[in-house]
Amino acid sequence: MPVITFANTKGGAGKTTAALILASELAARGNRVTILDADPRGWISRWHALGSANGLLSVAQVTEETIEAATLRAKKRGGYILIDLPSSQDALLAKAVGLADHVLIPVQGCAMDAQGGAEVLELLKALSDTCEVRIPHSVVLTRVNAAVTTRALGAAKEFLGRRGIPTLSTALAERAAYRDIFDKGGLLHTLDSREVSNLHKAIENAVSLTDEVLAQLPQRSVRTVSRKAPVLKAA
Ligand SMILES: Nc1ncnc2c1ncn2[C@@H]1O[C@H](COP(=O)(O)OP(=O)(O)OP(=O)(O)O)[C@@H](O)[C@H]1O
Ligand SMILES: [Mg+2]
Repeated sequence: MPVITFANTKGGAGKTTAALILASELAARGNRVTILDADPRGWISRWHALGSANGLLSVAQVTEETIEAATLRAKKRGGYILIDLPSSQDALLAKAVGLADHVLIPVQGCAMDAQGGAEVLELLKALSDTCEVRIPHSVVLTRVNAAVTTRALGAAKEFLGRRGIPTLSTALAERAAYRDIFDKGGLLHTLDSREVSNLHKAIENAVSLTDEVLAQLPQRSVRTVSRKAPVLKAA
């Protein structure tokens, strides 16, 4: 029952998108997934209300007051728990980080964008230094333009690496599918490849990201479900 918290105090860093993409892939693999939607704007809840996500995936809206009880309930249900935070730096962030087995910090492809991520990293360091609570965490680069990835991405990873910041080697590319899923509802696999450009690439990217995130989690908490080949609606 691992808890993965998506945190970055910078708005628009890609938290909600990364959370939904990971949730979609985990549910497509047959895992139970609960998304705790801590953003009052409720993007994930609105996506869920569109229906057609599979029955393994549930969403609950939470606040600073309810997040701990909701996490306990989700743990009883089993499976993966993903927490989507708003961009504020407050007690909700501290609680959601404290509940996490892993904190994922989405940062937009350019390392200069990392300010909000740095605030989360400072919070994690403060927890470690003052409370001896060490929460595993990693940066995931997001919205990376597929056309210019290698050099720019390499530079961003090097920038973070030099500062000792763990960074996933899989970045989330800028893909239409990652926007369209919010309008159309359902999982990435249930989008129609005739309507969504490069859907197969978006799914491949989600598969790699999920594999790498699962590898970061405490192995006792990871339920291994073999990856089935995605079935697209059109070739
Ligand atoms: N990988 C991606 N491909 C395409 N669009 C993306 C991607 N990641 C994010 N976006 C778009 O960028 C915008 C911001 O992304 P998102 O809402 O995920 O960020 P956020 O960190 O959750 O923002 P907030 O702090 O406001 O909650 C959205 O319009 C989203 O559709
Ligand atoms: Mg968001």
